[in-house]
Amino acid sequence: MNKIHFLRACWNDCMVVESNGLFGIIDTGFDDGINLIAPYLESIGCNKLEFILITHFHHDHYGSLGDLLRKYPVGTVYMKRYSGLDITTGGGEPATDEYRRTEMANCDALCALAEEVSKLVVINENVKQVKMGDFCFDLYGTWEAVKELYENPDSPYYHEIHFGENTNSVALFADVNGTTIYLGGDAGNESNPYEKFNKQNDQYARAINRPIDLYKVPHHCCGNCLGEDAMRIFKPRYAVATNWTDSVNGVFSANRDKLMAANPDLVLLCSDRCGYAFTIGANGDLSYTEITPAPAE
Ligand SMILES: [Fe+2]
Repeated sequence: MNKIHFLRACWNDCMVVESNGLFGIIDTGFDDGINLIAPYLESIGCNKLEFILITHFHHDHYGSLGDLLRKYPVGTVYMKRYSGLDITTGGGEPATDEYRRTEMANCDALCALAEEVSKLVVINENVKQVKMGDFCFDLYGTWEAVKELYENPDSPYYHEIHFGENTNSVALFADVNGTTIYLGGDAGNESNPYEKFNKQNDQYARAINRPIDLYKVPHHCCGNCLGEDAMRIFKPRYAVATNWTDSVNGVFSANRDKLMAANPDLVLLCSDRCGYAFTIGANGDLSYTEITPAPAE
């Protein structure tokens, strides 16, 4: 059986991948996420993890990594390391030097813990896939974008701290029995004169060039997260926005409208009230159930 479980989450991400009795986690939510994640893992019979993947080093994505590593055997930790050049915090506030130093220390400590109790794979351009059971995720956005924009003399942002860590996000694509899955991390779609960074989501969409059945809306459905090419190519069938329903229908309704325009039959789910467990059938059928009642706070 193949499943992707989107845990209840607002402004943070945590997805459990399940394949024939094997389990992995993509992003680990906030610091206190373990109180949500552990009871849920127990409820689905998971007591060890083949992998944990951190799409980028923001608090709302790596928060419970330490607790998970201390509680469960974990085969491999795939980590997109912190750039140390983040212009905003994980909460979107302006980043200070002290914040950047603290986050770098947090990243170093978590990498050291991962090396001690698991196997650490730092995600870079040489890491192209993550496999578990019937899932084979292709990784996009593996380059150290923020660092390169800062350090490359050809960059228009040479020695300027100009981007947030979201720019470093890894996005993942998988085809399981013909069902296509795109998990967009917090990747954005900014126009930029630096070609490698110009409209990243559109670039990933052109590379994948497939309609998407199950779409984790990048960056919690906020900001500039949905490119024209991405919407034209992906035309998602089901989309999960890790945000409040009221926000998706309110302040971020322009993104909701782009999604609905790409596919008027889209099923758009917000993960504020509950999570969602998607089952991918042997013939590619896709269905979901609400994870209710929501696991304990
Ligand atoms: Fe985020």
